[in-house]
Amino acid sequence: ATSGATVHQLGGRIGARIDGVRLGGDLDHATIAAVRDALLRHKVVFLRGQHHLDEAGHQAFAETFGPLTTAHPTVDTGSGRVFKVTADKGMAANAWHTDVTFVDRVPAISVLRAVHLPPYGGNTVWANTVAAYDALPASLRALVDELWAVHTNSYDYAQRDEESEEPDANYTRADFASQIFETEHPVVRVHPETGERSLVLGHFVKNFTGLNSAESIAVFTLLQNRITRLENTIRWTWQPGDVAVWDNRATQHYAVADFDTEYREMARITVAGDVPVGIDG
Ligand code: SIN
Repeated sequence: ATSGATVHQLGGRIGARIDGVRLGGDLDHATIAAVRDALLRHKVVFLRGQHHLDEAGHQAFAETFGPLTTAHPTVDTGSGRVFKVTADKGMAANAWHTDVTFVDRVPAISVLRAVHLPPYGGNTVWANTVAAYDALPASLRALVDELWAVHTNSYDYAQRDEESEEPDANYTRADFASQIFETEHPVVRVHPETGERSLVLGHFVKNFTGLNSAESIAVFTLLQNRITRLENTIRWTWQPGDVAVWDNRATQHYAVADFDTEYREMARITVAGDVPVGIDG
């Protein structure tokens, strides 16, 4: 069977919109393959007009990518698979990050659905961490190819280069106090499906193995600036009914907290992933 999906590339390095698909758990194999191919190629894909999608449909669609993770390892979300992303006080996940890198098996894919949008603002921006690696000069590749980073949810990476004092309002210190995760990942991972190399960083990085905290901040800032340069990103203005799917093994993202105290609610479901493997296997 051929799929009705049509893929429109939106940026030079990242992002595509897929038209002609009505999301749910009942997609045919050709459409599932088309969506997955577009995702692996463009890193984040957007589908408009999915107004019919409720929580069950969202979950059923996410399951077409593979087994799901629990909603969140440390935030109590009940027994469900849906992580509700809201921003009280007008703050959201406004720090560049890859979802949940502080656990060993980092989620592979995230599926985000707009539930309630503010009247203005609240865009999300994604960056391509494969393109960022590919653009590194040989000298910086030599540095990162051997480097490992410690990721934690305890936020003690002092003076991180972000404006927000509490980088992610969802993950308050109180939530995390009950369970602190810390794990080491290679800074360069080999993507298990595409074989591409990507940079594994973002705001859960605490330090680099063998570097002190001042050195870690310097190297982190250098690399993050390359990942998040505007040419390496795509910015999405949400409409009701929109769904975004991103490859968490090849991207970082940032929710822009420019909607004052307006209400914004998103629902996120994550697909289970592997332990990141470095270039030495
Ligand atoms: C997230 O960080 O997964 C949520 C992004 C968003 O709310 O736009």
